[in-house]
Amino acid sequence: MSRLVTATPAHASAMAAIHAAAFALGERWGIDAMAIQVALPGAFGFIDPDGAMILARVAADEAEILTLATIPALRRQGRGRELLAAAQASAISAGARTMFLEVSEANDAARGLYAAMGYRQIGRRPRYYGETAALVLRLDLPAATP
Ligand SMILES: CC(C)(COP(=O)(O)OP(=O)(O)OC[C@H]1O[C@@H](n2cnc3c(N)ncnc32)[C@H](O)[C@@H]1OP(=O)(O)O)[C@@H](O)C(=O)NCCC(=O)NCCS
Repeated sequence: MSRLVTATPAHASAMAAIHAAAFALGERWGIDAMAIQVALPGAFGFIDPDGAMILARVAADEAEILTLATIPALRRQGRGRELLAAAQASAISAGARTMFLEVSEANDAARGLYAAMGYRQIGRRPRYYGETAALVLRLDLPAATP
């Protein structure tokens, strides 16, 4: 059985703590931001209580990864992959046929994860994160099984 917990606004503090451990200053989402994001229409997410989290959002047949984080001490143990797979499965259940996300061109770990999960680059936004470009990635999702 999965250890993953479905994210709600009540988990905003826990999610912000994971985010703060995973991201550099200036890229961290605080408690208020987490509470707002998880309450957006179509938003959903999962928390690995050990120290990882994901938020995503579905609108019609398109979905988007909003953020994903594993605390440094727990990286390369499959948590990112598990959370991404869970978000993709939820998006499929909600009717999404495509998943999109943005990732810094300099983020080798995240790019490695997304490539391993089958995402491909469909765009590049220069100087999106300061001087660094954002890559726009896409994954085609299978249809939901009835
Ligand atoms: C990106 C991140 C979420 C990955 O989380 P994780 O729990 O370590 O990921 P996983 O253990 O599931 O990794 C799965 C696969 O992704 C790839 N990958 C993960 N980290 C990698 C790295 N540092 N370099 C290259 N490939 C990497 C590998 O293919 C890996 O499989 P393997 O370990 O069998 O080789 C984590 O590094 C993180 O929180 N980074 C800071 C926040 C961030 O950048 N979030 C994403 C923003 S778009």
